[in-house]
Amino acid sequence: MSASDDNVHDQVKEYYGKKVKKTEDLKLQACTVSFGSGLTKEVKEALASVHEEVSKKYYGCGLVIPECLEGMKILDLGSGSGLDCFALSKLVGPDGYVVGIDMTEEQLSVANEYIDYHTNLYGYKKPNVKFVKGYIERLMEAGLEENFFDIIVSNCVINLSPDKDAVLSQSHKVLKVGGELFFSDIYADKVVPENARKHPDLWGECISGALYWKDLHKIAESVGFSRPRIVSVTPVPVEREDFKKLLGDIKFASVTYRLFKLPPNCHESSAKAIYNGEISGHEEQLNFDHQLIFKANDSVCIDGLTHASLKYSRFAEEFLIQAQKCGDSSSKSELDNPFEILENLKSSGKEVPAACCSTKCC
Ligand SMILES: C[S@@+](CC[C@H](N)C(=O)[O-])C[C@H]1O[C@@H](n2cnc3c(N)ncnc32)[C@H](O)[C@@H]1O
Repeated sequence: MSASDDNVHDQVKEYYGKKVKKTEDLKLQACTVSFGSGLTKEVKEALASVHEEVSKKYYGCGLVIPECLEGMKILDLGSGSGLDCFALSKLVGPDGYVVGIDMTEEQLSVANEYIDYHTNLYGYKKPNVKFVKGYIERLMEAGLEENFFDIIVSNCVINLSPDKDAVLSQSHKVLKVGGELFFSDIYADKVVPENARKHPDLWGECISGALYWKDLHKIAESVGFSRPRIVSVTPVPVEREDFKKLLGDIKFASVTYRLFKLPPNCHESSAKAIYNGEISGHEEQLNFDHQLIFKANDSVCIDGLTHASLKYSRFAEEFLIQAQKCGDSSSKSELDNPFEILENLKSSGKEVPAACCSTKCC
């Protein structure tokens, strides 16, 4: 790691360890975007069950709770005070396992303080969650195992990293084949200029470290992940005049993506998929991304990439896949651009999700 990477880490530790003590201390809404509507009862209950001292320090920008979690091993990159980890600890059940990694002592100490509380609350004999001190760019050094996790989540953290390639490459390493990276983060519609990137508060507020969305696709491809699928998008307005001056006309959005680690050189063809309706909380339908909805027991035409993502992941048991040519087998999505999705929503008069400042917005 370079000296300038160390410098960014120190600045971010200072921000989340000393400067910011609770959600309301953030200057912008970027790191506190709401969960949005449409949460399942189980997810609402899991989030609501988390101790107030933990939720008071929530700095996430989306919902990082995917479907089909029972018994899963999950890693949370930049777990902060642990809100997502504790909610996931409830949802994976006593046979699941959740690890949160963070580099900031003050955040880790809050998370560690509330492990026993949540273990008792959920009625588990022993904790199924632990917190590790370390850098998300160096998961091996933090003692995490290769090919171990079923799912990695992360909530508004990767933008803060000075080396996003390393974060994605290490994530790919620790995931099992068929594993999924499901994460919310801030993206820009252009590359953020160097002078804005150097502003410590703009970086700390999860804005100027944001990746240009096309760069996420490049990094994902280079480390071996499947094409990023957009699950949800929320605009992130930057309303402070001094910040606006530095950023010009760059737009920002919080985007939740899902990416799969598929077997090397796997090529599946288009097919028909029938969802069995058995995932808890998603009995009627499963929203796989912002476009693809599987209604229970309906046959849906899927492209080769979706076929592979279902076949090799934890979703395999939930689908009947009929290998038959079905429409266009290419795996290109017309709507990879989150900013175009927001524009389309606006121009079609549909409701654009709004940012809000607390975990209570759900
Ligand atoms: C915006 S907060 C989000 C915290 C948490 N995910 C949440 O939703 O409340 C960012 C967190 O990521 C951690 N972090 C940032 N960069 C990191 C890195 N390179 N390695 C490990 N942790 C990091 C910070 O210490 C901080 O706790």
